[in-house]
Amino acid sequence: MNVKKGTFVVLASGRGSNFQAILDRVSDGYIPAVCTALITDNPLAHAIERARAAGIPGEVVSFKSFSDKQAYETALIATIQKYNPDLVVLAGYMRILGSEIVRKYSGRMVNIHPSLLPSFTGLHAQEQAVNYGVKVAGCTVHFVTEDMDAGPVIIQRTVPVFENDDGDILSDRILVEEHKAFPQAIRLFFQGRLTIEGRVVKIDTNQAPSPGRDD
Ligand code: GRF
Repeated sequence: MNVKKGTFVVLASGRGSNFQAILDRVSDGYIPAVCTALITDNPLAHAIERARAAGIPGEVVSFKSFSDKQAYETALIATIQKYNPDLVVLAGYMRILGSEIVRKYSGRMVNIHPSLLPSFTGLHAQEQAVNYGVKVAGCTVHFVTEDMDAGPVIIQRTVPVFENDDGDILSDRILVEEHKAFPQAIRLFFQGRLTIEGRVVKIDTNQAPSPGRDD
């Protein structure tokens, strides 16, 4: 029997290590879905090389090519819609998306942020955590809503913060957990185990686990 797998596209602006971690977990069967495109706003993004290596189309929708934000977003939506994905994954996508696109993919768009939200929203979250002096930091995968870094939380993973840490050291420690948390959240989505109730995400724990490591 041929069961059609769900599909997702990834939006990334730079290095793309989360994109790679997700691709690796698609390859080993942990994520029961297919990544159909990488879309970037940055023609120099290393993520494009990663897409090429994986045989996945890489689309560049560069902000500079459009007269204003509205025109850019219209083009971005059109590019996403070419692939008609079940899920849109923001993996280090450095632009704040407008309300039209966020509403269009409501409940079907996820983002990763390198802090334990709702602490330290916005840029340089890891440095904010170090400067604040928190003892525990981490990452959050959440559904995207119109308020930045404020959507319903799917998964959080934690790391300790040590006295000699700087933003870079803490970023590296958190990144290791990002590479676990994002595939976990995407897997749960495609297993149909996530329900959004208000701002709370419920995870169905009654389903029999499908094959693959759960870490
Ligand atoms: C990650 O730290 C992610 O949490 C943040 O941007 C960074 C992207 O890193 N949103 P990479 O491009 O996935 O390596």
